[in-house]
Amino acid sequence: MSRVFSGVQPTGDLHLGNYLGAIRNFVGLQDDHECIYCVVDMHAITVWQDPAQLAPHTREVASAFLASGIDPKTSIIFNQSRVSAHAGLAWVFNCVARMGWLNRMTQFKEKAGKHRENASVGLYVYPNLMAADILAYKATHVPVGEDQKQHLELTRDIAIKFNNDFGTEFFPVTEPLIFGEATRVMSLRDGTKKMSKSDPSEYSRINLTDGADDIATKIRKARTDPNELPGTEALDADGTTLRSDAVAERPEAFNLISIYAALSGQDMAATLDQFAGAQFSTFKGELADLSVAKLGPIGAEMQRLMADPGHVDGVLADGAERAAAIAEPILRDVHKIVGFLGA
Ligand code: AMP
Ligand code: TRP
Repeated sequence: MSRVFSGVQPTGDLHLGNYLGAIRNFVGLQDDHECIYCVVDMHAITVWQDPAQLAPHTREVASAFLASGIDPKTSIIFNQSRVSAHAGLAWVFNCVARMGWLNRMTQFKEKAGKHRENASVGLYVYPNLMAADILAYKATHVPVGEDQKQHLELTRDIAIKFNNDFGTEFFPVTEPLIFGEATRVMSLRDGTKKMSKSDPSEYSRINLTDGADDIATKIRKARTDPNELPGTEALDADGTTLRSDAVAERPEAFNLISIYAALSGQDMAATLDQFAGAQFSTFKGELADLSVAKLGPIGAEMQRLMADPGHVDGVLADGAERAAAIAEPILRDVHKIVGFLGA
């Protein structure tokens, strides 16, 4: 059976992008895969995190997993720092990956900004730790949002180079799973920017813990354009995906339509058909109702779980034990392959 691994950082304020691009997709994969879902606290500290907030933020992500429908009995839910194999394998990968590969990573460039000299070394080698997360379990499939594609290509390069260098077939070459109608959810204030927790405007994103009023207000205030909603002429020749030139012309409109399609479970063609020629005021009302109906229960369940830290902590402790039982023997094998004495 193929094994699925994915991670989400506990940096606070999980939003609709995290849900539609990643967490929601985690749920369906449980039916026919062995799934491991990790709260990647070691990735989070590559930029400063208030120590007093790290545990509550870790519980927030775990609560989102549970509230969205991940079953902690069949799947494994845990926090990364508890399983030392992640750091252990990351060190080996620091010695496999090349500087030139990391220099090409766009997320590092974005996060480090102009003051690259001041970025942590951890932020620079972040993709090596991510490769270690995945390959410590020999995971074959990794569900993520579109923005993680480049990191997963690096994971493949690391697996291939390790196998070549040591003359083995030890690591699988991982497949990214980037699917659904909203693999890249954009800011509600600016359709050319990704929805992100680092955006200073609260109105740019819908947080998973937002109540019904906040959700409706944010959608009502979302930026649009003066035209009516587009129809199926915006689709590619294949009739299923949006034409990139159409999206570039009306990024806000297509972002809201993609969110509607993803939340409704309807495909893009049906969604465009439904609203072609409508006014934004009508469409926004429908989108607000749908969002409250789909996200409201998840937010409420998250609040309930976060008020019961004992339960969530128990889930993470149990998951960590099961995760370590898989990862430790794999790291031991890596030590043998590398030639460490005592392995
Ligand atoms: P992070 O919060 O950076 O750990 O991201 C967790 C998951 O959410 C990753 O799989 C990301 O690709 C995904 N994600 C984050 N932001 C967005 C977005 N705006 N649209 C779609 N997916 C996203
Ligand atoms: N880098 C991912 C993000 O920011 C989080 C992550 C860490 C991850 N390790 C992973 C995702 C392993 C998938 C698999 O979204």
